[in-house]
Amino acid sequence: MNRRYRKTIIAGNWKMNRDVSDVRPYGEALLALAGKKPPCEIVVCTPFLMIPAAAEVFRGSPVAVGAQDVSEADNGARTGEVSASQLAAAGAKYVIIGHSERREYHGEDDALVGRKLKTALRHGLRAIVCVGERAAQREKGAEFDVVRRQLREALYGLDLPQLKNTVIAYEPVWAIGTGNTASPLQAEEMCRDIRLTLRDMFGAAAARGTSVLYGGSMKPSNAAELLARPDIDGGLIGGASLNAKDFYEIVRAAEQ
Ligand code: PGA
Repeated sequence: MNRRYRKTIIAGNWKMNRDVSDVRPYGEALLALAGKKPPCEIVVCTPFLMIPAAAEVFRGSPVAVGAQDVSEADNGARTGEVSASQLAAAGAKYVIIGHSERREYHGEDDALVGRKLKTALRHGLRAIVCVGERAAQREKGAEFDVVRRQLREALYGLDLPQLKNTVIAYEPVWAIGTGNTASPLQAEEMCRDIRLTLRDMFGAAAARGTSVLYGGSMKPSNAAELLARPDIDGGLIGGASLNAKDFYEIVRAAEQ
């Protein structure tokens, strides 16, 4: 982390877990732990259905609510989709875009990720854009090329004010939900490379000011050593975010 230049963010991704009735007890437990001034920004990304309940529990608190996806379209005939303005009106401040599970199960490519990103930003959401290589790509030594390409396509055409509302999450696909966390060195190397690509695209000041998170089996037992690295500005946490106590332990690891 480098708190002088950028925000530290710990974001939970509930994926398709839990139910509306779980939101209040979870929220109250998290707020009791977090108090009024937690050590970093905290985001909880729930399924669409739970966003209004989460927004109510966290209203006026330091915890922000996020969604896990958004439509590229502003409105209209998109059966099953949810628009950025609907998310904002329901109380979401953040949205995850381009998660590897969206890419894998819903065929999302970098161009679509880029369009969703611009739509989300236009409606005032902050975006967490996910990038990351698959195991086979790393085995071939292609991980840096893959992530650079994902970033360049997704962020193409963004201006500096838009980049200010964009967070990058490096999530190697082989580390997600597997317990097989990237080593702090592997995670730091890629997060640093991401910052270099951002520098190339947007200049040094913008790159220095952009938060780059790590995600993939981050948990209380390994968070501190990942978050101690200078280019890792927080985490995107799946499994370990489902329990408020575990999630808050990761927030506390960001305190160092
Ligand atoms: P995990 O998921 O922490 O369960 O590995 C992270 C993510 O997919 O965002």
